Amino acid sequence: MVVIEPSILSADFTKLGDAVMEAEKAGVSAIQIDVMDGRFVPNINFGPGVVSAIRPITNMMLDVHLMIVEPEKYIEDFVKAGADRIIVHQEVCTHLHRVLQIIREMGIKSGVTLNPATPPDMIEDVLELSDFVQVMGVNPGFGGQKFIHSQLNKIRALKSVLDDRGLDVPIGLDGGIDTATAPLVVEAGATVLVAGSSVYNSRGSVKENVEALLKSV
Ligand code: DX5
Repeated sequence: MVVIEPSILSADFTKLGDAVMEAEKAGVSAIQIDVMDGRFVPNINFGPGVVSAIRPITNMMLDVHLMIVEPEKYIEDFVKAGADRIIVHQEVCTHLHRVLQIIREMGIKSGVTLNPATPPDMIEDVLELSDFVQVMGVNPGFGGQKFIHSQLNKIRALKSVLDDRGLDVPIGLDGGIDTATAPLVVEAGATVLVAGSSVYNSRGSVKENVEALLKSV
């Protein structure tokens, strides 16, 4: 089953709570909270405080995407803040196998993600430690960017490895999702569409935009 996971990076930050509750009312089961440190990506935004502010107002899964260096230093803070899943970038984890173990040992779900330049085999040895695999459809840091179509082959490659190993691990695509790219991404094997600017925009409500994305696949 394909799900839309709104990224609140594109929400109106003056009404972040309303944006979260609007997603829940639209029937969404998870939102992605993009954490950026200005070092791993050229943007700075949320910290654990935003997660703890959002936690009490929603029952949705809070999926924290750490676009930061040394993510292992902040796992406990985000778990305490209320994260249900933490996604780390392979590119900044020298000991990725251990980081994913630590996330699971903290009692929450683990996720791993790859930048567009990173080949899928860089995470093949940690798939058994991953509850979620996320392929970046854009170079991380900003919403509203153009989808990088070469990432479709990465989804296919990861899906093939997961299937060969009998691993029921959902694949997500994060970045550049709209009604034109969503069907391509689903056809390639992704079931979680992380979408920011196509969900939070002035063209329609969250509910309308989520429904349009689901209708397109
Ligand atoms: C980019 C973030 C994405 C982004 C997606 O660094 O990880 O989640 O918010 O935004 P859109 O859907 O607008 O590409």
